[in-house]
Amino acid sequence: MSRVITSADQITFNRSDLQPMPVPGKVMMVKPTFFDVEYVINPHMKNQVGRVDTMQAENEWEHLRDGYKELGYSVQIVDGVEGYPDMVFSANQSLPYIAPDGGKEVVMSVMNSSQRKGEVPYIEEFYKQEGYTIHHANLTGDESFEGMGDALWHFKRGLLWGAYGFRSSLKVYEQISDLFDVPVIALELQSDTFYHLDTCLCILNEDTALIYSDAFNAEGLELIHAVFDTVIEATSYEAETLFAVNAVCPDGKNVLIQQGCTDVNQKLRDAGFYVHEYSTYEFIKSGGSVFCLKMLLW
Ligand code: ARG
Repeated sequence: MSRVITSADQITFNRSDLQPMPVPGKVMMVKPTFFDVEYVINPHMKNQVGRVDTMQAENEWEHLRDGYKELGYSVQIVDGVEGYPDMVFSANQSLPYIAPDGGKEVVMSVMNSSQRKGEVPYIEEFYKQEGYTIHHANLTGDESFEGMGDALWHFKRGLLWGAYGFRSSLKVYEQISDLFDVPVIALELQSDTFYHLDTCLCILNEDTALIYSDAFNAEGLELIHAVFDTVIEATSYEAETLFAVNAVCPDGKNVLIQQGCTDVNQKLRDAGFYVHEYSTYEFIKSGGSVFCLKMLLW
């Protein structure tokens, strides 16, 4: 029976009773060889067509890749494909899962825009080679699902945070809840500037989240505050212009984040996190930053 939670009064679990999930040890990234802004499918891309410094983008991407290596992650690289300038955002084409028995599964995305739909089979091929069991969401017409752009695992727990409204359909979360037998907390996004959940919710560890609160409605904020003891808030400047919330904390301690998020970084340090800053300015032109440029795997 699917368990999709849309209001705080429906939360019946204790966090500590939820199925444990291991922390990821691997990162998958797609080479930025063909990265560019060639079309506009989110507000950040407006006026950026043809304005990417591709050499600079490669440098930024390489620094980020090396950052994961320095933190001890094994990094698997998938080649970019000509004609798919957004494929580099490897958080978007899938949602992987590890079962309690260690079995690895993945739900492939159904991208919202026609320009990105063709990226998915290439990423599916990667998962086949990795021995994953592959699932496809059962969606029709204009329904879509954009993987870990919109669906985030709670730190170390079989609990999914799933957003809908712009790139993903609410319906998919019932299917994912059934498939993996996990509860899903569904949040309706409110602003196209924050079109993916990973632009406005960053799960830092089991009880701490970084959010941009204006991206959510009252029910969403209530859900977030019901589950996390500590909620750090980003300012609108850092969330919108610097993609501060599109950070990643893969181990519950180290946060990889876009350079210059002074206010958020101070709050993160005060809460005991280690901050590692990266420049992702070229990717921000396309509406993505640190979080979107990788997929964490087990
Ligand atoms: N240009 C891409 C798009 O709009 C950016 C994706 C960024 N990814 C993310 N997870 N926020 O689809």
